[in-house]
Amino acid sequence: MISVSEANDVFVKDSKFRKFDVNEIRKDFPILAREVNGKPLVYFDNAATTQKPNIVIDSMTHYYRYENANIHRGLHFLSEVATEQYENARIKVKEFVNAMSVSEIILTKGTTDGINLLANTMCRADMLNEGDEIIISHMEHHANIVPWQLLCDRKKTVLKVIPINDDGEIIIEEYKKLISPKTKLVSIVHTSNTLGTINPVKEVIDIAHENNIPVIIDAAQAVAHQRVDVQELDCDFLVFSGHKLFGPTGIGVLYGKTEFLNKLPPYQGGGDMIRTVTFEETTYEDIPNKFEAGTPNIVGGIGLGVAIKYLNMFNFSDIQNYENKLLEYATERMLEINLVRLIGTARNKASVISFTVDGIHPYDLGTIIDTDGVALRTGHHCTQPLMKRFNVPATARASFAFYNTIDEIDVFIKALNKVIKMFS
Ligand SMILES: Cc1ncc(COP(=O)(O)O)c(C=O)c1O
Repeated sequence: MISVSEANDVFVKDSKFRKFDVNEIRKDFPILAREVNGKPLVYFDNAATTQKPNIVIDSMTHYYRYENANIHRGLHFLSEVATEQYENARIKVKEFVNAMSVSEIILTKGTTDGINLLANTMCRADMLNEGDEIIISHMEHHANIVPWQLLCDRKKTVLKVIPINDDGEIIIEEYKKLISPKTKLVSIVHTSNTLGTINPVKEVIDIAHENNIPVIIDAAQAVAHQRVDVQELDCDFLVFSGHKLFGPTGIGVLYGKTEFLNKLPPYQGGGDMIRTVTFEETTYEDIPNKFEAGTPNIVGGIGLGVAIKYLNMFNFSDIQNYENKLLEYATERMLEINLVRLIGTARNKASVISFTVDGIHPYDLGTIIDTDGVALRTGHHCTQPLMKRFNVPATARASFAFYNTIDEIDVFIKALNKVIKMFS
């Protein structure tokens, strides 16, 4: 098991990666050792939220036990320690996504919060006005649909949707056709939480930029599975959540290019985001503080920073290769079962498998398979338009992280066959 100080050492030296050994990795995640319904837990709901390693949990209890204080405000010892830790987390995020500057990293409540911040402030900055068009795709999470609809109601903007093919891939030619002089924004998911599709986001961004359109990338499902480099992508904004990255809930990241963040007005008003306040006029802090009103989720920020430290111990390509093996193996095993229909068969996929079983409602499947300790997600996965596209009310979804194993997939397949037998 890795301690916080060891993790620090590895991060600081940044010289060698940890050997990828799934049995050792599992020891870092205490919850994986527990039983559910008298069976060893098989946690395949990582797209909903990931489990937390000991060093993240320990860093958070350590902060509350020994370092709790508000940040940015006090000159006393504890406040300085807390501020340094929180700001160090921002630096880690900056390095993690390779932003140009630490001031381009806004700490939010999560992906949803980041998108709502952008919808609200872009509208108030007059970057989006009546008749302007916003392009999203058919596979967006509700978090990248509803904020734009709220805006459409208020500002009479128009939402355009990139269609997808039967494998669950966006159709680039159709995307190109949607672009018009009225298009003012493209906001697209990097990796679909329901289909697992990894979108050609670089191509999407390049096409938008040829037309001077800024692009938001929803990287909620991407950052735990592959390196995401904002400079390489050249995205204008990128959002993700800490809890899908082995960090805590209630903390997330909005990356934005300085030129855009400077153009946007504050999202919320209050403490920490102001420079001077009089009853007549208020002046605001520079980015990122301008967007961070009030006491933030300090312990969440610290936990997120440590989660990134933890991930930095590994070579990302080891994680990717391993998860690809899990995906391939599980897909093959599932295709052996006649009644299973896979929803989402894109060529470029992350370790997410959505499926239906003929004659069994996903809710029944999810409930019964849970009795064998297997945690799947069932439902619409906050992608109702996608359910409609594939003509299903809901799916069951198995989503893997780098601590899952081939043995767990065997347990899952056995439990799935058992459920099918019960219904036949
Ligand atoms: C692709 C995608 N976008 C956005 C979200 C919303 O994330 P959060 O609920 O952490 O704000 C999720 C969560 O499942 C997601 O998978």
